[in-house]
Amino acid sequence: MPILVDAHGYVLETARHAYAVGLTPEKELALRYWGRKLPQLADYPPLPHYEGWASFNGAEHLTPHEYPTYRGGSFNEPCLKTTFSDGVRDTWLTFQRAIIVDEEDALTLRFDDAHYPLRVYVVYRLLADLDLIERYVEVQNHGDAPITLERALSAMWHLPPAGRYELVHFTGRWFDEWQMQREPLPRGVTRLDSKRGTSSHHHHPAAFFAHPHTTETHGDCWFATLEHSGNWALLAEHTDFDTVRVSMGLNDWDFAHRLEAGASLVTPSVFLGWAEGGFQDASQRLHALARRNVPHPQQVRPVLYNSWEATAFDVDADSQMRYAEVAAELGVELFVMDDGWFKGRDHDAAGLGDWTPDPRKFPHGLTPLIDHVKALGMQFGLWIEPEMVNPDSDLYRAHPDWALHYPTRPRTTARNQLVLNLARPDVQDYLIETLTTLLSEHDIAFVKWDMNRSLTEVGWDGAEPKEVWWRYTEGVYRVWGTLRARFPAVLWQACSGGGGRADLGILRYADQVWLSDNTEPTRRLPMQHHYLMLYPPNTLEAWVTDMGWESMPLSFRFHVSMCGNLGVGANITRWGAAQKAAARDLIAQYKAIRHIVQQGRVYRHEPDPRGGYYALHFVSADQRECALFVFRAHSPEPAHPYYVTVRGLLPDARYTAHELGICRSGAAWASVPLRFDLQPFESRLYTLKAQYDGEYHDF
Ligand code: GLA
Repeated sequence: MPILVDAHGYVLETARHAYAVGLTPEKELALRYWGRKLPQLADYPPLPHYEGWASFNGAEHLTPHEYPTYRGGSFNEPCLKTTFSDGVRDTWLTFQRAIIVDEEDALTLRFDDAHYPLRVYVVYRLLADLDLIERYVEVQNHGDAPITLERALSAMWHLPPAGRYELVHFTGRWFDEWQMQREPLPRGVTRLDSKRGTSSHHHHPAAFFAHPHTTETHGDCWFATLEHSGNWALLAEHTDFDTVRVSMGLNDWDFAHRLEAGASLVTPSVFLGWAEGGFQDASQRLHALARRNVPHPQQVRPVLYNSWEATAFDVDADSQMRYAEVAAELGVELFVMDDGWFKGRDHDAAGLGDWTPDPRKFPHGLTPLIDHVKALGMQFGLWIEPEMVNPDSDLYRAHPDWALHYPTRPRTTARNQLVLNLARPDVQDYLIETLTTLLSEHDIAFVKWDMNRSLTEVGWDGAEPKEVWWRYTEGVYRVWGTLRARFPAVLWQACSGGGGRADLGILRYADQVWLSDNTEPTRRLPMQHHYLMLYPPNTLEAWVTDMGWESMPLSFRFHVSMCGNLGVGANITRWGAAQKAAARDLIAQYKAIRHIVQQGRVYRHEPDPRGGYYALHFVSADQRECALFVFRAHSPEPAHPYYVTVRGLLPDARYTAHELGICRSGAAWASVPLRFDLQPFESRLYTLKAQYDGEYHDF
């Protein structure tokens, strides 16, 4: 039983780790231990007695609370901040009881306020096989008067005291997403967040805390990721007592949640982990987590074609058929029509909201094109951007009040569009019915759901004004979740002007995400490298486009995109016979290894910035096969070697790489480096296959 009760509190044991909590004399929850699983229950320490530090810092300030509230003598960042109807703003939660549900591996601890009818359930759920702990809270109002929540984060956790920590996180902007930052955690509060209504291109709702010597393969790191696609915040407080308190959840910036009598709020989940084997150890568990979230975890991802970068809005039935014909010749399996197909959509200033085919471009609707695509042996996919509306659209003319706005302020357009208020149930219902009609009337196997701007003028008189951010995201989830349930076979792609909403929350609805509108392969290499720290390769959609075509060979461009779900987005109608033949071969090669890439375990190699090298390899779920990719991007260094060892294979099995003429044991592949002397824009793909009589172990 992984949830254990001892004399000092509760011990949560996963496969290798343990997390122990206990109660203070005031019956508040605090952390006792987080680290390696210990042999005996008696090994887990009790909560120490926290002494105060002069009159300025009482024990209350120094205790590592698991869900601290704003109150009394605690001057750290709290998780919960409330205002009661009489104006009191302190919250005093005391422990009432614990509920252990073994079948769900869940420990729920109930806390009630000492005076007011506020109840908080702090929930821990073990993902024992992944060595992860899921945490969230439910806040309930059991009284007659409303209670306002001004902050309701999902969890707080504490890093071992007196350590030196670096914060590893991901920043970016449109066209330049997925940059990794690694910086010493300064004293004070470091805050990462989004105020845009999406998780955003700018900061990503996940972070690692590592020691300075932690590498991809060695050392400790503590990590967390939030399952939420709207405004979020992470607060890392490095205190003057050499402790680090980290909390995460819904952003409390422009946040207020009015908890009516009898109402409750369930926060998004945070998933927490500690890894001893470097970032790779953390990544592989995060991959397993995301793989469980996606709607179609096992389904092979088809090779797709999308003409957006070739045609932009210039789509119609005839020209899309020509693209489809060439795509089919190349071996593409899914033909996706992007923006430009619906009523009035000749440019980005009109049409959003009117999800019916433009009769000028598709005089007989979409069916002739879909039939043609299917006759060519492919499936059909379609782009939509349901959350948006152009002022120049029938929808906006009929329902101007459906767009987010303040009545007394101008409406800020971005890309000429406004945002529909998905917090409104009537807007949600409208979208559900409109998109149900679209998907019922057409044979659509894949939907690309886009979202091309941030939220502004987040006003609505239908709820507590500052709830709209949260309700908007819940609305997106409701619309998407309903469609997903109604059309279970459809594969979904999440896009937000590239990687503006590529998070764990959206991966409950979407099977794959678009990392960036920047498809230039040497920019994609670091982006993919960093994305794969958090998410598995079968969620990463990667197209070969015309960006970089003058300087890079086709094989290099394909190899970069073959490290995820391969797609093509180039203007293939301009490709000559030789280029098409090469692309056909590369697509065939991808199909032969995609089970290794999409479902395999990922091993990322330390990039070499001086030589411009990147490498990674994938080991199949049964450990019999491996695909190794090595790239050299442009680099001023004329000649520069790079060394790669292939880890993660069965040590005793012998693996052959025919292209290299090498057959050696898994142990030798992991120990004897391969040397690469590549030219700029050269790449290699090798497959390793095992000959082994022993037993294979699935991951
Ligand atoms: C966004 C997406 C692109 C494309 C366009 C269409 O920018 O990221 O891939 O779909 O919208 O307008």
